[in-house]
Amino acid sequence: MSLHPKQNILLVENIHPIAKEFLENDGYHVDLLSHAPSEDELIKLLPNYVALGIRSKTEITSRILESTEHLLSIGAFCIGTNQIALNAARKKGIAVFNAPHSNTRSVAELVIAEMIALSRQLGDRNTKAHQGEWIKSAEGSKEVRGKVLGIVGYGHIGSQVSILAESMGLKVIFFDTVKKLPLGNARPVPSLEELLSTSDFVTLHVPEIPETKNMIGEKELSLMKKGAHLINASRGTVVVIEALVEALKSKHLAGCAIDVFPIEPASNKEKFVSPLQGLNNVILTPHIGGSTEEAQKAIGIEVAESFRRFLNIGSSSGAVNFPNVDLPLKKGTSRILNVHKNEPGVLGEINTIISNAGANIEGQFLSTDEEIGYLVMDVQSHHSEELAFHISKLSRSIRTRIVS
Ligand code: NAI
Repeated sequence: MSLHPKQNILLVENIHPIAKEFLENDGYHVDLLSHAPSEDELIKLLPNYVALGIRSKTEITSRILESTEHLLSIGAFCIGTNQIALNAARKKGIAVFNAPHSNTRSVAELVIAEMIALSRQLGDRNTKAHQGEWIKSAEGSKEVRGKVLGIVGYGHIGSQVSILAESMGLKVIFFDTVKKLPLGNARPVPSLEELLSTSDFVTLHVPEIPETKNMIGEKELSLMKKGAHLINASRGTVVVIEALVEALKSKHLAGCAIDVFPIEPASNKEKFVSPLQGLNNVILTPHIGGSTEEAQKAIGIEVAESFRRFLNIGSSSGAVNFPNVDLPLKKGTSRILNVHKNEPGVLGEINTIISNAGANIEGQFLSTDEEIGYLVMDVQSHHSEELAFHISKLSRSIRTRIVS
């Protein structure tokens, strides 16, 4: 592989045009494909590119990764990275990026809308009005002002919901397993039980991990205040749907808004079936919490920016499969980037090359995981070609390149 790789990028699956614009403004040549290319198609295409942008439908298999000598980075212009053989990419020294937080605000806004919609039974009244029924009554309709919102999981989305809800006059409490800085007047509570028993609205913003599977079941629902509302826009496995159905039918809960389900249709063509269908004051949405045009654009910018930083200066911060390094470039130096197998003695070999060349190292940073090491080294420019050449020839070097 060349020490100065070509600057071509391939974006597939109709990635938002802002990504192409962003990368072209930075001097890259960008090719677009609207479909998700097959394994064989990618194997043919990839020798021309240093970076590949995909969405959720393009499968990046070990076979594709093994066939490529040029690819430096893959960007998943979406949240998930299950479609990529991450470990195989790591072993080839290919950094994979995604955009986990570009849709944070979109989810938070949906939750705010749902709180008001539940409080005013908007879903049911809207349906009835469409059917010609006129249900003008204040019974069971409430303002959200002054009510208690309990947020479970005070991370990126939970904390955004917190700020928006306070501005509408809700009192915010939250429960998180990690100590978090409360924003505004939000108040942490010591247990999930306390949160459930004191909130008028409970909204879930936890990750899908073994500890959160079935986190809200019969017992937890029974702890919620009578007439309270539940919102779940996190993951479908967090709530036991059958228990929720019972809590709604018994009128213990006044309503719920659910955006994520234990089993979701794989595409818009598949039928959606849920035991929650047909129940009063139940808002069901097809996992659209993060699906906004703004989020798509933000994803385009976030991943393009990761490409730019990785290709231009070797910064791997945010990579999901790769040691994270973020070192500002020192003026007047050349930067050598080397990915190697993390085995004893590699660094010694690299240092021998440096001392044999009589080179002066201006800055050096090594980050490792169990399999690979990522070395970022700033050297005087006149030494860079020679050093990079010898380092690239080491038996345990995977990728070596010069970025400036
Ligand atoms: P995050 O990682 O920023 O925050 C999650 C928080 O939950 C962290 O503060 C963590 O400490 C906390 N937590 C973990 N286990 C917990 C437990 N057992 N009890 C209480 N707190 C716990 O994640 P982010 O970005 O806020 O996303 C939250 C959820 O929203 C994720 O499940 C994500 O998949 C989902 N999501 C849903 C979308 C949709 O379209 N509906 C779009 C984007 C994200």
